[in-house]
Amino acid sequence: MIQIRNLYKNFGAQEVLHGVDLEIAEGETIAIVGPSGTGKSVLLKIVSGLLEASSGEVVVAGRSVTDVKSSRERQKICRNMGILFQSAALFDSLTLYDNVAFPLNYNSNLEVDEIHQRVVSRIADVGMSGKELMLPGEVSIGMRKRIGIARALVTNPAIILFDEPNTGLDPYMGQEIYELIAEMKKKAGFTGVVISHEIPEVFQVCDRIAMLYQGEVRAQGTVDEFLSIDDAVVKQFIEGSVEGPISLQ
Ligand SMILES: Nc1ncnc2c1ncn2[C@@H]1O[C@H](COP(=O)(O)OP(=O)(O)OP(=O)(O)O)[C@@H](O)[C@H]1O
Ligand SMILES: [Mg+2]
Repeated sequence: MIQIRNLYKNFGAQEVLHGVDLEIAEGETIAIVGPSGTGKSVLLKIVSGLLEASSGEVVVAGRSVTDVKSSRERQKICRNMGILFQSAALFDSLTLYDNVAFPLNYNSNLEVDEIHQRVVSRIADVGMSGKELMLPGEVSIGMRKRIGIARALVTNPAIILFDEPNTGLDPYMGQEIYELIAEMKKKAGFTGVVISHEIPEVFQVCDRIAMLYQGEVRAQGTVDEFLSIDDAVVKQFIEGSVEGPISLQ
């Protein structure tokens, strides 16, 4: 469903991704983990067509995202995707309701009633009923994140790309969000990419894990395979230890 081949990205002299290769099969959810600053969000922005790659290729559902030149064509590819950016990226001047309704108003030919039902039900799914008319600036960061998730799921997308769905949430809400993702996955059967720092919590929503480290895929496999990989970098990351080859850059 998603093929990433020999992907490079640099910002000026800074090389962020160098040679990322990753395949995500249809219906599979992959967790992308790795230390801060290692290029996870950049990778997700390239897959969603928001950032241009320096070289290499990304193919989503048989169509190359990296070859697309017009923003209209890019929008077509993205129509299949539910995207949650790390910062939630809501529209500040729209109510929470209108933020969630946005992809449906803009991109679908559903009846008004159907749109209303879907929006209300997604807002309920993320535990935000009753706050529909508030503005993003009037609620907490965690609440904004939940609304971002509701907006990403409202179109019942075939692909979801979630950048740290749990950061900024308390452990209880964080767990609820994982359960929501798992439940939606069962119901809707999407192909998913979930970026997370949370080991082992993220294991409950993913079929496979890939660890990104210094701009490359350092390791990948099922949860069991990942946990038994004999690599000091992977082990240190799993254990969350300060001692080892990974250092703050
Ligand atoms: N638009 C940009 N312009 C210049 N540099 C950028 C840009 N976006 C990201 N970077 C740089 O790319 C590197 C990787 O950033 P990225 O946000 O992908 O890290 P990350 O793995 O998502 O980290 P975190 O876990 O903290 O979210 C960082 O050094 C960052 O400063
Ligand atoms: Mg990030």
